[in-house]
This record gives sequence, structure tokens and C-alpha cells, in this order.
Amino acid sequence: MATISVERFKSLSPAEFFYRNREIAGFSNPVRALYQTVRELVENALDATDSHGILPSIKVVISQESSNDKKTNVYTVTVEDNGIGIPPHHIPNAFGQLLYSSKYILRQTRGMFGLGAKMAVLYGQMTTGKPVEVISSPINSRRIYAFKVLIDIKSNKPIVLFKASYSKNNNWHGTVVKVHVEGDWSRSRSKIYEYLRRTAIIAPYAELVFSDPEGNTIYFQRSTDLMPVPPREVRPHPHGVDIEMLKMMLHTTKTTNLRDFLIKEFQSVGSITADRVLSMAGLDPGLNPRKLNITQIGKLVKVLKEYERFKPPRGDHLSFMGEDIIKTGLKSILKPEFVTAVTRKPSVYEGHAFIIEVGLAYGGEIKPTDKPTLLRYANKIPLLYDEKSDVAYKVIDENIDWSYYGISFPAPLVILVHICSTKIPYKGVGKESIAEVPEIEKEMESALREAVRRLKSYVTMKRREIEEAERAVSIAKYIPEVAYSLSKIVNGVKQEHLEKILLKMLNQKLKRLQLNTLDEVVVAIE
Ligand SMILES: Nc1ncnc2c1ncn2[C@@H]1O[C@H](COP(=O)(O)OP(=O)(O)O)[C@@H](O)[C@H]1O
Ligand SMILES: [Mg+2]
Repeated sequence: MATISVERFKSLSPAEFFYRNREIAGFSNPVRALYQTVRELVENALDATDSHGILPSIKVVISQESSNDKKTNVYTVTVEDNGIGIPPHHIPNAFGQLLYSSKYILRQTRGMFGLGAKMAVLYGQMTTGKPVEVISSPINSRRIYAFKVLIDIKSNKPIVLFKASYSKNNNWHGTVVKVHVEGDWSRSRSKIYEYLRRTAIIAPYAELVFSDPEGNTIYFQRSTDLMPVPPREVRPHPHGVDIEMLKMMLHTTKTTNLRDFLIKEFQSVGSITADRVLSMAGLDPGLNPRKLNITQIGKLVKVLKEYERFKPPRGDHLSFMGEDIIKTGLKSILKPEFVTAVTRKPSVYEGHAFIIEVGLAYGGEIKPTDKPTLLRYANKIPLLYDEKSDVAYKVIDENIDWSYYGISFPAPLVILVHICSTKIPYKGVGKESIAEVPEIEKEMESALREAVRRLKSYVTMKRREIEEAERAVSIAKYIPEVAYSLSKIVNGVKQEHLEKILLKMLNQKLKRLQLNTLDEVVVAIE
């Protein structure tokens, strides 16, 4: 007879859930974990600076703490920034409680899940038993605070092992975070370098220093003081609501009637629209928002979602790079011959505004490849893994017919695709690839087509110039002969003199084409 066992039920704290399922946040093995640790800490450092109008200066140090016979060793990862700092009463939770964040608002930031730093702390604690060390001084504070924190996994609460504060005799503000983690530097080296290089491309206004465990230091200089406009916090757009969200908003609002509620709590709703929406939902504008029953809430959500005449969502909570910054970043790191960038106007999917930007770099020091090299970014974060499952890859690989633009591969072509939104449709919390949302795909394609059209004009112009130069060179061969015949016809003019005049005329033509002088072109073509 089969024995029937009794099922035992329990619930998990968020910390225990992510401890068990750390791979979904990118901490699947020592290689990924070291990369992900750097990434999460650098993203927090950038959020604490550029989102607040501070030119970032960020220092990343990975040093090896101990080694064993295996490939994995213990490393210390330290990231220092000159950002806004963290108020001391938030430090324990910010690093010791999963799903605790200052970024759960409608304003574009790199962080969005309230997980990143904690996953690094959790992984470090699991593999080395050591706490995270945080030193921080908020921007207007006279003191520096230091903490050592572990996570109590069962209760998802911080355990503060050490706490101190010191007075400050200078203007330093910012944060230093140090975690001890098991990792595999030799196999994560290339990804970490690539991550930092791509960060330097998208944030040319940042100064980045990285010291690796082998004693190498790389310095990405700031190449512009131009920064994206810091994002502003906005109210939600009516198209983005659902029943639960509306319930929460109705519960927390300070307004006392439905009409004011719609006008004050949402963007794009004025008094005429509010009245229209409420009459379509069959609701009295004077109703107390807290008194709505579930049927009324359902009706209101339906109308808010379906009403087509709201103004489109605003884009000022989004912080796009802008064409100039993208071009500067591509130029300073890739040293191409041609560069262009396109920033599209805000667009919308499921009520969420987003902006697509595309940069394109061609020639110069870029090596030819069989396909365009794709640099993907979401909210200024470089995405390095899962390229083939990303919508940007599909657009480049399937939607664009490169031969139509006169580009044949191998070609020295790099394409940067950046999406900004407060709701990026990532395929996982590891934030590595973006889902194929039709509206996003369409915007990416339009931006890319515009950039490639510009490249096509450039390449066509260049080709024409080269043809003209070639023609000039072949004509130049006849100069001595022509000069000789002319000198025979025109009395008193020497052949050498005529040769000089003719050569000068051809050189002027080439200069107008902005090409080299004839001598150099002859050498180049031969
Ligand atoms: N370097 C830093 N400077 C300022 N604040 C920070 C820094 N690192 C972390 N924080 C704070 O800690 C919070 C939690 O960080 P994290 O776990 O990475 O989640 P998220 O970045 O998604 O909010 C952040 O929302 C931020 O308020
Ligand atoms: Mg973060």
C-alpha cells in the first residue's frame, strides 16, 4: 500500500527566496557573481551621482583576499562614489533587507528592484561569511558613518555588527561599499572589463578608475562635462493603472472627491477630461475616493485604460543621453571615422513612456566584423548577457536589410541601442535582455533606419570622393605629356612651369574634397 506523506507548508521571506533562487538575479556561479557584484555596485554609484546632477567619479577595486586550490578565490570588491550618500538610518535596510529601495518611484534610475546591493551582500555572506562594509556621508552632513551589516535570511532583516560615526573636516560626500565574495576573476575578467568600457561609452561624463586583482589599473577619463538632464519624479499615466494600483492610490490619496483625485494623482488629466472619464464610468465626481467598491474600481480602471484622448505620457521622468553625449562616448572610446546618433521622442507601451536612442559608429579604429557589433543599454546600464534573446538583436539581425543601405559585411560597424523607461520589460531580474514589445521594436527600427540612412549618405559621399580622387590621379599621369605639348605650342612657357600649374589645380580640387594632396593619394591608391 502506498504511504501518503503529509505536505508541510511554510512561507519564505524575500531574503530566503532570493537566497534559494539567486540565479534569477544574476548570481548563478562564481564567474557571474563577481561580474554582477561589480555591476550592481557601480550602478548604485552612478544612480547616486548623475541622477542628482553630480559628475560621477567612481573608483572600483577588486583585490584577491585568499586563494585555494580551486579556481574560485575570495575577492574584495570596493566601489567608491562621490554621490549623494545614504542617510545613516537607512543604511542597515538599504544593504540588509531585500526589496528595500529609494527607487520605487516614477523616476528613471538604473536600480528598480531594490535587490542589487543586497544580492551582492547575500552572496558574499553565503560564500565568505563576511558582512558588507559601508562608509557613507550624505551630501549636507557634517559626519561620516560606517556600518558592517549582514542579512538575517529567515526574517529578511539587517544584522548590524558594527556602527560608528565620525566628524568630517572636509566636503567629501559619497559612499564606499565593500563586499567580500567568492569569485572567479580569471573567467570574469573579460566581462568586467567590457562592462566598464561600455559604461564609459554611455557615460562619457563619468570618471572611472578600475584596479584589478592582477595589479593593473585602467582609467577612463571624463571626456565631457555635459550630463543628461536628471530625471524628475512624475505621477502615473492613466493608461498604466490596474485594479491593485488604483486601490492603493485611492487608499493613500489626500483628495476628498473623485474629480480631484483624477486631476491631482495622475498626469494628463484636467478637469474636463476628469468629468468625461467619470461620466463614462458612471461615477459621481463628488464621491469620496475611499468609498469606492470593487465594482466601481473595476469600471474606473476600464475607462482609464481605454479612454483614448489622454495626452500621451510625459517623458520628463526619463533621462535620455541625448545625441551629443552618445556621439562623444562612441568617439572617445571607439575612435571611429564616422559617428551619428538619433534620440526619438517619447513613446508609450502599456501606459509606460519610453525613449529609444541609437548611436552608430563606423570605420576608423573599429575592426570589421561579420555582423554589426551591438552595444545594448537599458536606463544607461550596459547589457552583456543573453544578446540573442533581446529585441534589439532581432531588429538588427532580422528587420534591417543592410544591403539596401549599401553596407556589406564584414564591415567596421558598431551600433548602440539605448532604451529608457521607468518600466523596462526585462526578461528577468538579472536585467540582461529586453522582451519583444511591438512598440519598442518599432521605435528601435525607426531610430536605426534613420542612423543607417545617415551612414549611407556618408559612405556614398566618401565613395564619390574616392572615385574623383582616382580620376585625378589617372589624369595626373598625363600631366608631363600635356605640359610638354603645351610648351611647344605656347612660346616662352617652360614645361616644368606648366606641370606645376596643372598639379596645383588638381591638388586644389582634392583639397576641396577634403582628401589628401595628390602625392599622398597616389601613394594610397597605388
Ligand atoms: N552608492 C550608493 N549611494 C547612495 N545610495 C545608495 C548607494 N548604494 C545603495 N544605495 C541606496 O540603497 C538602496 C538599495 O540599493 P539596491 O539594493 O541596489 O536596490 P536598488 O538600486 O534597486 O534600489 C538604493 O535604492 C539607494 O537608496
Ligand atoms: Mg541597485
